Amino acid sequence: LNAGDLTAQPEIIVALDVNSLSAAEDVMARMPDELRWYKVGLELYTAVGPDILRLLHRNYGKRIFLDLKLHDIPNTVAAAVRAAAGHGIGLLTVHASGGQAMLAAAANAATGLDRDAPRLLAVTALTSLADADLHDIGVQRTVSEQVLALGQLACDNGIDGLVSSAWELAALRRQLGRKPILVTPGIRLPGGEVGDQKRVATPSTAAQAGANFLVVGRPLLTAKDPHEVLARLKADMQETSAA
Ligand code: C5P
Repeated sequence: LNAGDLTAQPEIIVALDVNSLSAAEDVMARMPDELRWYKVGLELYTAVGPDILRLLHRNYGKRIFLDLKLHDIPNTVAAAVRAAAGHGIGLLTVHASGGQAMLAAAANAATGLDRDAPRLLAVTALTSLADADLHDIGVQRTVSEQVLALGQLACDNGIDGLVSSAWELAALRRQLGRKPILVTPGIRLPGGEVGDQKRVATPSTAAQAGANFLVVGRPLLTAKDPHEVLARLKADMQETSAA
């Protein structure tokens, strides 16, 4: 991932939320070619392993957001970061709650790689956690405080960016400045089906709040016509730059 890859408007990452290679190929066949980025998460990676990375990178020439949310001792996480190189992975996630030494080890491992190095993103507080859940695991901060504190910790230790709900984007941008790559899921077209998502936003809202990448799953995956949905996503973002 080069600085030039970060466009003025956020780039869309398709969430490849399927559990087999053939289902992934079906999705790829329906998606517009111009979509360059695909997110591989725990389910798909656990189901099919690195074959999915080869398929996306070698067969389709796509960039990969590997969302494995690594969380282990520093040595193990650093080794996993090195193992990810060479598979066309542009973005890779780690848990910020792994702590300073783990974050720095991951960042150092990525820096030590050549041109295939993935950029690292930290996950702060999962959106499934409420203040009471944090309390249960010994965290006295509110969710918003925890997101900002762990976001700062990650960036201070060499992590390139964060996964953030649209609702936390503006505060993170304000605190951390322009440099971190901010990646936001929970994107819906105005009036679109929300599903199980809690903190949704339209593309334009997320763009205005400072997102660099938008992760879009069901709005594209379940669309009768993904080309038409992509056009609407882009048109919505366009309103931002016109405003
Ligand atoms: O289908 P939808 O657009 O809601 O998919 C969003 C994607 O982003 C899914 O892969 C989901 O797991 C992921 N995600 C999310 N919210 C988070 C973290 C990840 O929706 N807080």
